[in-house]
Parts: sequence; structure tokens; C-alpha cells
Amino acid sequence: MKALEGIKVLDFTHVQSGPTCTQLLGWFGADVIKVERPGVGDATRQQLVDKPGADSLYFTMLNHNKRSIELNSKNETGKEVLTRLIEECDVLVENFAPGALDRMGFSWERIQEINPRIILASIKGFGPGRYEDCKVYENVAQCVGGSASTTGFRDGLPMVSGAQTGDSGTGLHLCLGIVTALFQREKTGRGQKVSAAMQDGVLNLCRVKLRDQQRLEAGPLKEYSQFGEGIEFGDSVPRAGNDSGGGQPGRILKCKGWETDPNAYTYFIIQAAIWDKVCDVIGEPEWKTDEGYATPDARNDKLNQIFERIELWTMERSKFEVMEICNPLNIPVGPILSMKEIMEDEGLYKTGTLVKVDHPERGEYVSVGSPIKLSDSPVEVSRSPLLGEHTQEILSSVLGYNGADLERVIDSGAVGEVKRQAAE
Ligand SMILES: CC(C)(COP(=O)(O)OP(=O)(O)OC[C@H]1O[C@@H](n2cnc3c(N)ncnc32)[C@H](O)[C@@H]1OP(=O)(O)O)[C@@H](O)C(=O)NCCC(=O)NCCS
Repeated sequence: MKALEGIKVLDFTHVQSGPTCTQLLGWFGADVIKVERPGVGDATRQQLVDKPGADSLYFTMLNHNKRSIELNSKNETGKEVLTRLIEECDVLVENFAPGALDRMGFSWERIQEINPRIILASIKGFGPGRYEDCKVYENVAQCVGGSASTTGFRDGLPMVSGAQTGDSGTGLHLCLGIVTALFQREKTGRGQKVSAAMQDGVLNLCRVKLRDQQRLEAGPLKEYSQFGEGIEFGDSVPRAGNDSGGGQPGRILKCKGWETDPNAYTYFIIQAAIWDKVCDVIGEPEWKTDEGYATPDARNDKLNQIFERIELWTMERSKFEVMEICNPLNIPVGPILSMKEIMEDEGLYKTGTLVKVDHPERGEYVSVGSPIKLSDSPVEVSRSPLLGEHTQEILSSVLGYNGADLERVIDSGAVGEVKRQAAE
């Protein structure tokens, strides 16, 4: 048995943020029914295409463990089918532009009328307020959530990160909200509305930077490199390059081969608890007792010099050798792994974090499996659906349309041309 077995999800999501959420629900065992515009589908099917004629990796990697129904929700019969889906499902997840669901005729009030037990889960760019009507994509969310202003180097541009904290991060937040609402519904019998704004999600993940904003009032942020460099702080949290975000100073340091390999680097943290071991490893044992180096406070204004010395040591070793030497000593280090190296890591396939998936149009591809492992609800990753692959199956077996009634729905044009042919 899977944790969410028996839960039906009406998946009205597209692009990245919403699909991330419903994919997780599918991995936990929910029956995820993805509603897509007839003949078009989720726009990502045809974005960043690497194999002409096949669904893109953008789509396939975000839509595992789902069924697809083509449905025009603005057509009268389409609205009837959507109403039936709302009646049958436990959760409706959507990430349309603000107001789109209302414009279709499915306000929260109307949805509750149809099914008071349903949970309506929505992702928008912003919460209520002056920007609530804006359409938002990943990088915009990273900018308005405080991530971009605090990422990058002090003397460079604000930077967005490769981690999709705006889209996938908000999808994760929403997923937690949905499961929590399902848990509450067990006791109350009532559904509720779950909202997650991308700005809020990014800000939540940037919590430590809001911490630092307030710490600034008490004086300079001593663990930031610029403190040791004697550069004054302004009135907002500066970009801190690769300085550690915690109280433990850390940097990215060059390793053997850095001249030609863009990823021959390691992260290196000098936690107070293992300072003595760091000194011994790099060959500076006198720093253990020297007053200028022995305590974290004493080291704060010399961090550049200290890390330059450590780097002389790391540059003579590969990033993996650094890991092998430091790990047994509890010195926190980590190699900068390229996507190529990650994709070749057999250990990640063994844990199901990476999976190989077969697809009728694309053949085999590699995807990221569930990062969350439940001991009693193992995840089996199945391929993403083709557009409308399950239209008839859902109309019949989930909604009970059969015979002439099924023909009527297909003939109405609400579920797309392809399915009309399949029905003949
Ligand atoms: C992502 C986003 C910017 C995309 O905008 P978009 O491509 O213009 O798509 P929209 O969500 O506005 O939807 C376009 C239209 O398609 C319609 N539509 C979608 N599915 C449909 C269906 N099955 N049948 C009929 N119409 C459909 C919508 O109702 C909408 O119509 P409207 O403009 O008349 O209301 C926008 O959806 C958004 O801001 N979403 C919330 C934030 C978010 O999730 N962003 C991250 C995405 S990774």
C-alpha cells in the first residue's frame, strides 16, 4: 500500500511549480489526473525540445506517475466534465495566472458547492497585495523573494541560482500544505483552500538572510569576507560570494586540476570544533595555540588569509582526495559535483534518487526520483503520460461516462480530436 492510495488529485497544473507538487503526490500513491488543453497540453511538452516529435525532458521529468486527460474547460461539455472531476477528486491543484480559475467559472465558492470535501491548492507569484495580479516565473520569484540580492559576489550583479527555489521550492511548500489539509479533513470532513506564493516560498528559503538583515543593526557581519577585507557594510545584507551562510566560516577552494576543470573545487568549512584538525592537516600546527588564530573571533578578520593557506593544500589534491582525508576527521568538506558526475554516480541510482525511465517516444532517459523516502510507501517512478493518453479511461472508469453519454462528450469537442479518433 502507498501512503496516499485512494486519494484522487485533479491536476490542473502546468510548467514547473505545480507539476513538481503533483508529481510528489503521485509518488506517494495518489491517482493524479492531469487536465490538459486539447491538442496543446502543458506548454513544457514542446519547450526545450531535444528529440523532435517527442515530449521534452522538461515535461517528462516533472510529470511522472500521472494520467493525462485532454479537456477544454471553457467548452460547456468540458465544464460539465470538470464539474464531475471536482465531485470525484479529493484535491484540485492549480497554478494558473491569478483569476484564471474564476474566469473559467470555477471560483473557490463554486468549487466548495460542488464538493465541500475538496482541497483547492494554488500557487501564485505573490500573495494578496499590490502585486497579486502578476504572472510570475522562476527567476522573478528569486528576485522578489530576496534570493538574488543576496546571491553572487559583492562587487558583481545580483545572481539567480540553478536551484529552482521559486518553482520547485514552492511546489514542495504546496505539497506539504495539501497533505496537512488532508490530515485535517480526516477530523473535520471539510476541505480548505491552500495557497503558496512563490515570493513567500523563496523568502522562507532565504530566512537566514533576513536574520542577517536584523543582525546588521548590531554591527558588521563578521563571518562575511568583507569584514576581514575592511569594507564597510551598507544598510542591507550584501552578497556574500561563497561565504558560509551559518556561523561557521566556509569557502569554495581550488583543487588539483582547477586550471582546466571548471568543477575542480571543494567547499571547505572551518568549524570551531575541528580547528585543531584543520591546522594539523594543512601543516600549520602553531595556529592551534597562536592567539591570533586559536579562536573563531580571532580568526574573523583573517579569513581570506586562512582560506588562501588552506587552498594551497587543497590545490595539491583532487576534490575527492580532499573529501577522503577530511571526512574521517569530521572536517566538513564537499566536492563541487558537476551534473555529469552526479549522473554517473551509481550510488544515487541504488537509492532511487536517480532513476532510468523508459518512454515510448524518447526511449530511456535519466530523471530525479523522489528525494523523500518513506519506509512503508516505496516510490516506483513511472513515465509521464502522452497528451490525452488516458482521456477515455478517465471519462469511463473515474467519471462513469459510457455508451451514448461517452459519445456525446467526445462529439462535443471538449476532449480533443485525438480521442474522438480513438473512440471510433
Ligand atoms: C506560469 C504563468 C506565468 C503562465 O502564464 P500563461 O502561459 O499565460 O498561462 P495562464 O495561466 O495565464 O493560462 C492561460 C489561459 O489558458 C487557459 N486554460 C488553461 N488550461 C485550459 C484548458 N484545459 N481549457 C481551456 N482553457 C485553459 C486559462 O484559463 C487561461 O485563460 P484566461 O487567460 O482566459 O484566463 C501563469 O500561469 C502564472 O503566473 N502562474 C502562477 C505562478 C506560477 O506557477 N508560476 C510558475 C510557473 S513554473
